[in-house]
Amino acid sequence: MNPDKFYVTTPIYYVNDKPHIGHAYTTVLADVLARYHRSLGIPTFFLTGTDEHGQKVQRAAEQNHITPQEQCDSTVVRFQELWHKLGITNDRFIRTTGDFHKKVVREVLQDLYDRDLIYKAEYKGWYCVPDERFFTEKDLVDGKCPECGRPVTEIIESNYFFRMSNYQQWLIDYIKSHPNFIQPAFRANETLGFLRQPLGDLCISRPKARLSWGIELPFDPDYVCYVWFDALINYISGVGYRQDDEMFRQWWPASYHLIGKDILTTHTVYWPTMLKAMNVELPESILAHGWWLTGREKMSKSLGNVVNPMDMINRCGVDAFRYFLMAEMSLGQDASFTEEAFVGRYNSDLANDLGNLLSRVLKMTLRNGGGVIPAPEAPDADAEELLQTVRAAREAMRKALAEMRLEQGLESIMNAVRAGNRYLEKTAPWTLAKQGETGRLRTVLYTASEALRQISVLLHPVMPEKMTELRLALGLNAAEAAHCSIVELENDANVLSGRQVQDSAGLFPRIVDEPAPAKPAPAAPPAEKPVNLITIDQFFQTELKTARVLAAEKIDGADKLLKLQIEIGAEKRQLVAGVAQFYTPEEIVGKTIVVVANLKPARIRGIESQGMLLAAKKGKELRLVTVDGEIGSGASVG
Ligand code: MSP
Repeated sequence: MNPDKFYVTTPIYYVNDKPHIGHAYTTVLADVLARYHRSLGIPTFFLTGTDEHGQKVQRAAEQNHITPQEQCDSTVVRFQELWHKLGITNDRFIRTTGDFHKKVVREVLQDLYDRDLIYKAEYKGWYCVPDERFFTEKDLVDGKCPECGRPVTEIIESNYFFRMSNYQQWLIDYIKSHPNFIQPAFRANETLGFLRQPLGDLCISRPKARLSWGIELPFDPDYVCYVWFDALINYISGVGYRQDDEMFRQWWPASYHLIGKDILTTHTVYWPTMLKAMNVELPESILAHGWWLTGREKMSKSLGNVVNPMDMINRCGVDAFRYFLMAEMSLGQDASFTEEAFVGRYNSDLANDLGNLLSRVLKMTLRNGGGVIPAPEAPDADAEELLQTVRAAREAMRKALAEMRLEQGLESIMNAVRAGNRYLEKTAPWTLAKQGETGRLRTVLYTASEALRQISVLLHPVMPEKMTELRLALGLNAAEAAHCSIVELENDANVLSGRQVQDSAGLFPRIVDEPAPAKPAPAAPPAEKPVNLITIDQFFQTELKTARVLAAEKIDGADKLLKLQIEIGAEKRQLVAGVAQFYTPEEIVGKTIVVVANLKPARIRGIESQGMLLAAKKGKELRLVTVDGEIGSGASVG
């Protein structure tokens, strides 16, 4: 990645409908990345916008009995309003109906046509209207669209084609020799898989007789440009391509095109080949994120389970929503949105950990020394350890940014917050005050405030409003509170001593309401890839231990069960396990197995079983989970 500048884009969104959580997610992600890079002192450009041509928009306009332009003009406002509300700091908002963009697209088309990279031919194929994509007979799956499974329509017409097939081998080589070009790596493999079949030429026109809402081809007024060919060009027209050379040189190539996984082919096959034909450098990286699901289901209008970002913001606040989106999704994987998950994370990370740390610091400072943050005495080991944890979080966030593992960076910052709370518990400033240990008390109050100040800088890109509030509470003035620079943290300057803290009414009040009842779930098709992700904390609720089998015997009348006597460290227990058809008592005795040690005891066939062993099962086979080598019993597993 070019370390000297950062140019990030979102997909440009169709204006056929109002924005939903998927749109909000990508845009918040781009915003958080942009803010982090600015905070690191890196010149940054952030582009988002709307995709306003094509069949989807034309059809929405027809349904709403308005012109396509009116459809665009009324819907674009909903996106812009949402971005404003979400605190999105894009440098430019591009609309593909803008004159400058149309001019650039027409110039590109003309140039490719003049160089015989676009030609006219008769086309016979299958068209998927909702996806606006053509397919050949062999692409279809059971006669339906291979992308969305919906019916396709046969079409025979003359059209214009871009010689995409010229670049197939070049693209394969490029992807293989640039491992960061498509991220995560498994998506690069998906594209390479797609490129294993012969790559056809790309139909880049639509006859006006069928679709009139598009950019007219400069060399044939009977046609408009295919919406994807027009839309992809926004990434360069938005930074001055063919209009402002200096601007274009400054920002292109993009550092990241952020996209959803459903638009991988258009971005990793169409777009690079178009750029190659134009002799324009390729973007540094295309990063495909997963889907937000409602619970385990795909969000869809027909299921009535689409999360509306405006509703969430109105109920929970902008920053809590931004934080949840960033912390909950591992980049590349699907993530699940449920009200319970939202409330759970909010209460634990924001209310209990961060909110609590601030309120303790403020209360203690107000109670001692009239609310003025004191100058520390010489720092002691506890103070140094806390500040070191915060510095480590800063480094972890830098690394997480480089590796696009934002959620891991946030986890490190939350660790630092928890370390702050532990620090207060350990040093117990309330006792120091009672005992008149004023020197140490000053160090504790200063150090905890300083840790919070540094944490606020690290969390500011994700929660700009709340972190500004937090900084005001620490006594910084309005300009200082709003100005957050990670680079400046490196100076380690004392800016807090002498500041007058402000009592804050609670930065993140705990949500105590029961989550709203889930909408009745209509019969749902299974999600594309169900997710069932748990947090590391949930995993560690299960206590796994190694155990040695001391004795084993069959149980009368139960031919599947063995009664085992096991040893977990110094403790002896009895287990009943359904392994008799796979192991004889002789075979199992002496093995070091893995058991769930904190399972409630149960009675099986009248015999008490104090735990459960782990085994791998497939069809009719079963093998015990054992440890590789000698470790003894009572060792924890995880
Ligand atoms: N207009 C095209 C993009 C052109 S970019 C040159 C488009 N627009 S879209 O409005 O339909 O979708 C925009 C983005 O939203 C896509 O990246 C898509 O993956 C994303 N999402 C739509 N639903 C989503 C979820 N439920 N979860 C996460 N993102 C999803 O495609």
